[in-house]
Formats: sequence, C-alpha cells, structure tokens
Amino acid sequence: CGIVGYIGKRDVAPLLLEGLQRLEYRGYDSAGIAIHANGTGKAAGLKIAKAKGRVRELESRLPKRFAGSTGIAHTRWATHGAPTDENAHPHLDTTGKVAVVHNGIIDNAAELRARLTADGVEFASETDTEVLAHLIGRSQAEKLEEKVRDALRHIEGTYGIAVLHADFTDRIVVARNGSPVVLGIGEHEMFVSSDVAALVSHTRQVVTLDDGEMATLKADDYRTYTTEGSRTTATPETVEYAAESYDLGGHDTYMHKEISEQADAVDRALRGRIDDRFSTVHLGGLNLDAREARAVRRVKILGCGTSYHAGQIGAQMIEELARIPSDAEPASEFRYRDPVVDPDTLYVAVSQSGETYDVLAAVQELKRKGARVLGLVNVVGSAIARETDGGIYVHAGPEVCVVSTKCFTNMVVSFALLALHLGRIRDLSVADGKRIIEGLRKLPGQIDEILKGEAEVKKLAAEYADAKSMMFIGRVRGYPVAREASLKLKEVSYIHAEAYPASELKHGPLALIEPAMPTVAIVPDDDLLEKNRAALEEIKARHGRILAVAHQEQEKADHTILVPKNEPELDPILMGIPLQLLAYHTALALGRDIDKPRNLAKSVTVE
Ligand code: G6P
Repeated sequence: CGIVGYIGKRDVAPLLLEGLQRLEYRGYDSAGIAIHANGTGKAAGLKIAKAKGRVRELESRLPKRFAGSTGIAHTRWATHGAPTDENAHPHLDTTGKVAVVHNGIIDNAAELRARLTADGVEFASETDTEVLAHLIGRSQAEKLEEKVRDALRHIEGTYGIAVLHADFTDRIVVARNGSPVVLGIGEHEMFVSSDVAALVSHTRQVVTLDDGEMATLKADDYRTYTTEGSRTTATPETVEYAAESYDLGGHDTYMHKEISEQADAVDRALRGRIDDRFSTVHLGGLNLDAREARAVRRVKILGCGTSYHAGQIGAQMIEELARIPSDAEPASEFRYRDPVVDPDTLYVAVSQSGETYDVLAAVQELKRKGARVLGLVNVVGSAIARETDGGIYVHAGPEVCVVSTKCFTNMVVSFALLALHLGRIRDLSVADGKRIIEGLRKLPGQIDEILKGEAEVKKLAAEYADAKSMMFIGRVRGYPVAREASLKLKEVSYIHAEAYPASELKHGPLALIEPAMPTVAIVPDDDLLEKNRAALEEIKARHGRILAVAHQEQEKADHTILVPKNEPELDPILMGIPLQLLAYHTALALGRDIDKPRNLAKSVTVE
C-alpha cells in the first residue's frame, strides 16, 4: 500500500494523484483521497473520493469541485476486506470530521470493532483501518495530536498513518510503527509519503520517522515527537537518487528499463569496494572484524520471493569461495518452525525493499535470541537495514516494476562480494581472489553484450508464448537460476512454470514432458556439462522442445541462447539475464500488465 499527503499552497488533488501514481507499484486495487476543501460554511470541511481499481479510475471519479491545498491519499493492496469502493482508504469516523489513511495491520481490529459496535458505532467498511478513524473521532482530547495518541494507545499491530481533521485545517498528523513514513521538506510546503518515490519530484530533503514516532506537518514547519509526546530531533537527509531515476526514461515499462540498467547497477555495486592489493573487497558496513568472520561456522540466508532465490545463489557462492556451510530459506517458513538459533551462525536477511514483513519479523526474532544478523538490502535506511547489525547495500537504485530484475542481479553480485570477503579472510588464495575480482570487473560489459541479443530473445518468446506450462531445469549453480527464471515467467506472463534440478527429472517430472511442454535448460560449461547434456537427451527422446541457455551451442536443444563465459562461480549472475528478457517478451506478446501483474505487490509489508 502507499500513502501520500501534502500541505501548502498548491492545488492538492493533482499533486496527490501524481504521488499515488508513483506509489501504484506498491498496491493497486483501490485508491482514495481526502482534502480540506477551500471555502467557508457548507463548502468547507473534509471532502473525499474513493474508487476501486487503479489511480486513473479515481482520477476520473473526482468531483468537479475538489479544490483545496491540504490532503492525504492512499493506494491499496487489500488485506482486510475485498477491494471495493467502501474498503478503499481514506476512512472516516461517524461525524465525517476525521479521515485516516493507513498502511500495516491492526491485530486487535476485530476486538476494537466489537467494542465500538457495542457502543453504537456504525461501520462503513470491513477494514481494520476504520477503527482508527472512530477512535480518533471519539477521543475527548483537545489537540489533534492527543486524539491520535489516544487512539494509538488502543492499537496492537503495525501502522504508518496520516490523519486529517476538519477542525484542524492547518495540519496533518502522522505516526509510524513498523510501516514507513517519510516527510518531504519543501519551500512553504510539506509532503509525506510511505516511500521516497512519491517525494523526489518535489524535494530531496527528507526525514524518515522511527518506529514509535509521530509528526505534525504544517505548511511552514514540522515537528516530530514520540507516541508518548516527548520531542525528538529529526535530521533531514538528502535522497540519493534524483527524480529521473524513478521515471520511465524512454522505456515503455519499468521492467524493460530496469533490465536495461543492469550493467550500470552492477558497476555501482562494485564501485569503491575492490581492493587489488589484497585481492579482496572492502565492505564498510559489514561490522564484522576478521576474528569474528573466522569464527562463523554456518551462514543462513533468509529472504522471500526473488530475494530468496538470490540468497540461494549467494549461499552456494559463500560455500564455494569461503568454504562455510551455507544455505538459504524463505524467511516466512524459517520464523514459524522454531529454528535452532546457533551463536556461530551468521544470518543474512536479503530484501529489495527492506520492509518485507516476513523478513523483518525473522530478523527481530533472531535478534531477540542474540543472533548476529546482517542485511543485504537495496533501500537505504529501510526497516531491515536499520534492524540488522550491519550489512551490504546492493545499490541497484530505485526498482519500480513489481517483479525484480536489476535488484536480483545486484543482490547476487553483492553475495559474490561477501563470499570473496569471507573467503579471503579464511582459505581462499590470493590467486583465486584475483580471478574472482577479474570476473566481477568483466560483468558489466558482458551484461551489455547479453542485452544486445534482445531481438533474438524476443523472437523466441513469440515462439514459446503459446505454452500452457514450462519446465525450467539446471544443476547445482544452475538450479537457483532456473528457479528464478521460472518465477519471473509465471509472475509476469501468468504461464505456469516449474523449476527442477535436472538430475531429478527422471524421478518424476519426466512424465510431463511432451511437445506441448517446453523446457528451458541452464547449461553452463562447467563440471556438470555432460550430465546436463544427458538430461537434454532424455527430454528430446520424449519429444520435448528445448530452449538452452548455454556457453556453447547445444545440439539437442531446439534453440540455444549463448551467454558469455565468466568464472564458473559467477556464471549464474549472467545466465539468468536472457531469461528476464524471455519473461518480459512473453508477457508483452500476451498483452500482460507488465509492471503491475495481477494479485501481486512490490512490497509485502503484511504477513
Ligand atoms: C514481493 C514481490 C517480489 C519480491 C518479494 C520480496 O512478493 O512481488 O518481487 O521478490 O516481495 O521483496 P523484498 O523487497 O523483500 O526483496
């Protein structure tokens, strides 16, 4: 979900709509807006508009007279209650004086709702957020800040909220607990959002609230304080990426833009980190000295979705280069299976947004048990980056398309850096360190080379787009590549896809192979080349179509996409890239909504 708010002198509705559009990637099943209407008497007061569907739907439904210069807005990804007009935010109290937009989940909503209903309150929606509006509306406190504080005292759960009140036209009150709230400081105007993406076209001066913090925004100033009411000092920071980084930059979709940006992104991840003198890398934020690094006996990587797949490749790299037993696990599963938390294990939480709830909750559980947790995160200053003991920023830059591409690549590159760093503290030789560094330096050029083959991949996509289902196979280093490629295809094209280790084909999935079920095979020139070839033969014998991604032409394949060779440990970084293009062009051929696939959201900040 996304929140945006503005207070100043400008006409607020167009500003908020633009902000919502920039946040749409975070949720897009309904949207709404509330403003302090200009005028006096009947014309004054709160005005509200909401609509199921995309932001453009809301835009077309805005009443003619909707002028004001203070307002809040929201784009939603449904959790409590279906996506309907009624369930869209903002939510009002019964007097219509209080409007609230909310990200997060109120855990005790059912209980509060029952209590309020017993008191005669009539609810207009099925959402958890509406209880907040009523609680604020019923508070007897004098100031708006106190009313909000009164309400929050009853709330268990997570929230990022923005509140308007008809009797307090000079301010917006916001609060944060577990769901981001960022203030944007302008000239005689203030912005607020759950994401800097909605702020950067207006200001790059921002203040990120901490959990347990609130703020009052007025056109000319702002102040921050705790939910208990004591003042806090807010230090404005400058956002790293300019507004253009959030634009399409001449591409038709963000997915295409982000795939195309990968050489630069990888370059950024490497910049300033390579140490040629000792054939290692500097990772300034790691907070792990050599003695501590040597004491690590296992590495456990936790993430969700694409980030989990990046973690799987990362685990292999760490095991190969640093010789530390390593594995990756979905954070969502890990935190529910009562895992043994071992003091000699180094935990790494990997996340683009830095706010995925399951990952954050796993980190918090680990910290509570005294574990050491590093973050491998893209969004600077995000919750996971703050909660971890140290870590690596992956520097992919803003990623807007719901499906992750460039961030995945940069995560894997960052894992290679971590593996090299740990390896060189342990037993990786200078020569091997040098070999990996040379490989890393080659990556941006090789990525550009792969992207030059886009026209060829586009043709292949047209050929495979009629498939109802596709199989992705690979072995060892190639297996997580196959898994990520299969996820990418299904997310964006809605073609069913499944990934299997090539070695396991004969234990079941071979039964599915027939001409209508194409297989994409990852075939690097490594120790397993012959084994992979044997798998292709098995498929061909069952008349399966094969698309290979390989370092050399594969005789058994119907098509081979050739990828330049790097060091074997780094090859997985390159082999997935043509398959991002395959997913993209397949989705394009099928007319899918590429940047916003159905039912998905970029950041899942709820369980
Ligand atoms: C969502 C997105 C995925 C992403 C996953 C983890 O499901 O749709 O693309 O991989 O969350 O997100 P994170 O921000 O933690 O990397």
